[in-house]
Amino acid sequence: MPITKSASWQALSALRESLPSRHLRELFASDPQRFSRLSFELDGLLVDFSKQRVDLETLDLLLALARDSGLDAWRDRFFSGEKINVSEDRAVLHPALRHLTLEPFPNAEMDVMPEVRAVRAHMRQFSDRVRAGLWRGFSGEAIRDVVNIGIGGSDLGPKVVVRALSAYQHPGLNMHFVSNIDSAHLAKLIEQLDPRSTLFVVASKTFTTQETMINAHTAREWLCAAAGEDAKRALPLHFVAVTANEEQARAFGLPAQNVFRLWDWVGGRYSLWSAVGLPIALAIGMNGFERLLSGAQAMDTHFREAPLEKNLPVLMALIGIWNTNFLGAGTSAVLPYHESLRFLPSFLQQLEMESNGKTVGRDGQPLSCQANPIVWGEIGSNGQHAFFQLLHQGGWLVPCDFIASAQSDHPLPGHQAPLMANFLAQSAALAFGKTEEEARAELEAAGVPAEQMAALLPHKVFAGNQPSTTIIMPRIDAYHLGLLLALYEHKVFVQGVIWGINSFDQWGVELGKQLAGRLLPALRGESDTEGLDQSTRALIAWCREYGDF
Ligand code: F6P
Repeated sequence: MPITKSASWQALSALRESLPSRHLRELFASDPQRFSRLSFELDGLLVDFSKQRVDLETLDLLLALARDSGLDAWRDRFFSGEKINVSEDRAVLHPALRHLTLEPFPNAEMDVMPEVRAVRAHMRQFSDRVRAGLWRGFSGEAIRDVVNIGIGGSDLGPKVVVRALSAYQHPGLNMHFVSNIDSAHLAKLIEQLDPRSTLFVVASKTFTTQETMINAHTAREWLCAAAGEDAKRALPLHFVAVTANEEQARAFGLPAQNVFRLWDWVGGRYSLWSAVGLPIALAIGMNGFERLLSGAQAMDTHFREAPLEKNLPVLMALIGIWNTNFLGAGTSAVLPYHESLRFLPSFLQQLEMESNGKTVGRDGQPLSCQANPIVWGEIGSNGQHAFFQLLHQGGWLVPCDFIASAQSDHPLPGHQAPLMANFLAQSAALAFGKTEEEARAELEAAGVPAEQMAALLPHKVFAGNQPSTTIIMPRIDAYHLGLLLALYEHKVFVQGVIWGINSFDQWGVELGKQLAGRLLPALRGESDTEGLDQSTRALIAWCREYGDF
């Protein structure tokens, strides 16, 4: 049965109809305990849902929706290693990657932990040597620059974490990430690098992704040219691979000990906890990486064991569904007020939109409702001076996640308090707005003459009622970052269950790849453009006139 036909969905629709104008001001005024009822803390990660447009009745119905969708059973199937990624016939076992106790996972019959532990040991041994300066390049120099070559989950996951934990980074290692096939990305970087002290990590689950493979081959040529006669010996000293396709990595020229294994049960966007996290281990050490894993594991345990009404990923998912499907929000914004979380919006865009950006259910039938909203975001301070105008007065419903840490990880005197004041002010301003009476009183107090009042007043009114979640932690450290990222991962899973989606495939990315394969020879003049649409043919002709392919 489509979820929209369930009793809970119908009741939520009716509730929505009966409450067209309920304002956050009223919700707060009617419940002095609202903050304590609607905020939750797990190991120092505080999540405040009180500025979301829900009350206890809405939440009860949303929880009923979760039950109607069979969430409990789906969660069990997920954690038991069942092949819930049906279209690819795969289990989804990324929680195994952060399973740190000695018990088997997911169970004794199909325990994947021996292999996971072996790869962790491999990562530790390698990252320890590089960090200690014992891993030497072809001329005997220690490694000073690490370049991760990957794209999508093989880039965004390690990049978000390495940037977030820059305060803990090894002082002698510079970390770089190259993803774009545009040569400007790699060219600008290698200009500043010394091949003798550079290590490339080629991260690709498939080892066939075009962008990654082209960048990897160019980097290999650059290294081999610098090594000259030593090229053969140099390659394994400067390249390692992270992949599930060991054969291709070997064909690239790497010996088995330079290949860090992945498994088909790790999705790209869920892979930072695997050897795809090697740059993290290099940057902050394997102990730091394991602290990240332990934060994520704590969220796994919470998600698995906490009752639905206190379960953070479940609540976050349900409130997102309320905003999307009942209040009609088509987008949601992620606003970290923390420079180190610069890449979080991009990471979450992939996590959410590649997982749930779908209109077909896991059963192959069209979904009965809209699924994932468009996720976007930016560092909050910068956004305030750019697009926040629209959030405050643009008339669109844009639920926001405000994220910050109480302490700065790179402190300078006089910065943190104004940062946090702005962080807190924005969500309050968005929620409560400013009424005409308040605006008038302010203008009067400022001595604005009556004749200007009428003209100014409409511009000074803020509708408010813009919902947001506030997420704060004491400090962005590995443990809390692990909690935060796993929170979003499980939120996506819960939403996928309710919408009826397989959140672990991504067929929508294939068509463009296929077409690019057809257009490449045409661009190079190796095939004609017969059969292509008229726009693409004309554009190819234009590119051939001005470009050099
Ligand atoms: O094209 C999409 C995608 O498959 C993502 O799901 C994945 O994270 C990315 O490409 C990179 O894939 P790979 O790790 O196989 O290079």
